Amino acid sequence: MIMSHCRFRIVVVEGEGTVRRSIGAALRKEGCEVDAARSPAEARKTIDRVRPAAVLIDLDTGEKPSLELVKEIAGGKIVVLLIASEEAAAAAAEGVKMGAVRWFPKPVDVKQILRVLPDLVAEYEIRHGAKRSEPIVVGNRETDRFILGSDPKMKEVFRVVNKLAASPGSTVLIEGESGVGKEMIAKAIHYNTSASRGRFVEINCGSLPSNLLESELFGHEMGAFTDAKTMKKGLVEIASGGTLFLDEIGEMPIELQATLLRVIETKRFKRVGGVSDIEVDLRFIAATNQDLKQAVSQKRFRNDLYYRLNVVPIHLPPLRERLEDIPILATFFIDYFNRELSRNIRGLSPSARNRLQEYDWPGNVRELKNVIERAILLESDDLILLEHLPLEISTGLSEGVMGELAEEEDEFVPITLSEAERRQILKTVDWARGNKTKAARTLGISRQTLREKLKQYEAS
Ligand SMILES: Nc1ncnc2c1ncn2[C@@H]1O[C@H](COP(=O)(O)OP(=O)(O)O)[C@@H](O)[C@H]1O
Ligand SMILES: [Mg+2]
Repeated sequence: MIMSHCRFRIVVVEGEGTVRRSIGAALRKEGCEVDAARSPAEARKTIDRVRPAAVLIDLDTGEKPSLELVKEIAGGKIVVLLIASEEAAAAAAEGVKMGAVRWFPKPVDVKQILRVLPDLVAEYEIRHGAKRSEPIVVGNRETDRFILGSDPKMKEVFRVVNKLAASPGSTVLIEGESGVGKEMIAKAIHYNTSASRGRFVEINCGSLPSNLLESELFGHEMGAFTDAKTMKKGLVEIASGGTLFLDEIGEMPIELQATLLRVIETKRFKRVGGVSDIEVDLRFIAATNQDLKQAVSQKRFRNDLYYRLNVVPIHLPPLRERLEDIPILATFFIDYFNRELSRNIRGLSPSARNRLQEYDWPGNVRELKNVIERAILLESDDLILLEHLPLEISTGLSEGVMGELAEEEDEFVPITLSEAERRQILKTVDWARGNKTKAARTLGISRQTLREKLKQYEAS
C-alpha cells in the first residue's frame, strides 16, 4: 500500500556490484531516484552533490570507513539505513547508536526495505522539520490567524477574496458545509477590504424568532412595541461602514427576506416603528450550509433575494475533497496547540496522517482542529500516532458501527471467538480513550500485541 510511492532520492553504498545493481533496480522500480556508490569515500561526494533523503550503507564495504560515514551524516536531515551480515552485527548496532535509523541483516530482502523506507523517510522529515508548508495569508488582522489551503479550489477562493477587497459594496454568498471555514472567509474579506473602516458584525439568522430577528437587524424606535422603552440601533446600522455577516441565511424567516432585499438594494432601511429612512453603507456577506436553490424551489427562500445574494458566490469545498490540505491544516493546528498548551509535539506519524486523509470529516476543519487538540491534550509522545486519534478515525469504522459495538451488551449475538476478541479490544481501546498502554494493561496483553492486533484490524 505504502510501497508504491517512493518519491525520494536515495544513495546506495554497496561494494558488491550485483547486490548494488539489484537493490538499485528494485528501488527505481518503486519510483526512487537512486545513486550508487562503491565506497564510503565515493558516497560522501555523491551525498554532497545530490542531497538525498536516505542513504543505504552496506557495512561490509569496510566497517571502519562505513561507520565514520554514518557518524558524519546520521542525525542530520538524512535517513541512514544499514545492511550488515551476521559478522558485522556488532558494527551495525554501533551504527544505530550513532543515529542510523535501522539495520537490515543479509541476505538483503529489498521488499522489506521498501516496506519501511517511505514511512521512515516521512517520519524523519516530520521529526526534523524538513517539510513544512508555508501558510497562505489572507490577512485577518483581527484574529491574526492564517487561512491555509493549497488545494486549487481553495486558491481560487483566495483569489476571489483578494478581488473582493477592491469592491467594498458587493454582496457575497458563501456556501459550504458546517466547519469548512465560511466565517473565516467572511472575516478575511472584511479585514482585507481597506475601504471598510467599520466593524465586522455577525448574526445567526436561525437563532431568533422572526420579530426579534427583525428588531435585532433593524433596531426599533422608542415605543415601537410594549417593551421598546428606548430607541435601539439595529445591526445594520451598527455595521454601517463595515460588514454584516448573515450566518445561516437559509433559516431567515421568509417574511423578513423582502425587507432584507430592500435594504441590500437601496442601502436604506427604517427602524421598527420608525417613519423615516436611514441610509447605510455596508457590505452584506451571507453564509449557508444548505442548498439555497432547493430552498427556493421549496418556496422557503425568496427567488429574488437568492439572485441578489448570489452575485459573487463562493463555494468552500468540504475537507474530504481537499486531501492535500489535511496534513497542512493538521500541522498548522499542531503548532497552534503546542503554543496554546505549552507542548512540543513534532508532527503526525505517517500512518496517522494517512488515516486523517482517509477519514470523511463530516465536521470538516472544525472537527480536524478538535481532533488535533484532543490528541495533544491526551498524549505525551512527541509524535501524534494512530492510537492518539479517536477510534472512528483510527479504525475507519463509522460511528454507526461503533454505536452497535457499544449497544450489543445485553443481547446474545453468535459470533466467532476472533470477532469477539476484536470487539472486546476495540471497545477497550475506546474506553481507555485511545490510551494504548492503559488498554493493553486492562486487556492483560502487551502493548506490542495490542498494536499488532489493531494493525491487523486496520488492514482488514
Ligand atoms: N482554511 C483554514 N485555515 C485555518 N483554519 C481554518 C480554515 N478553515 C477553517 N478553519 C478553522 O476551523 C474552524 C471552523 O471554521 P468556521 O469559519 O467557523 O466554519 P463555518 O463557519 O463554515 O462553520 C475555525 O476554528 C477556523 O478557525
Ligand atoms: Mg459558522
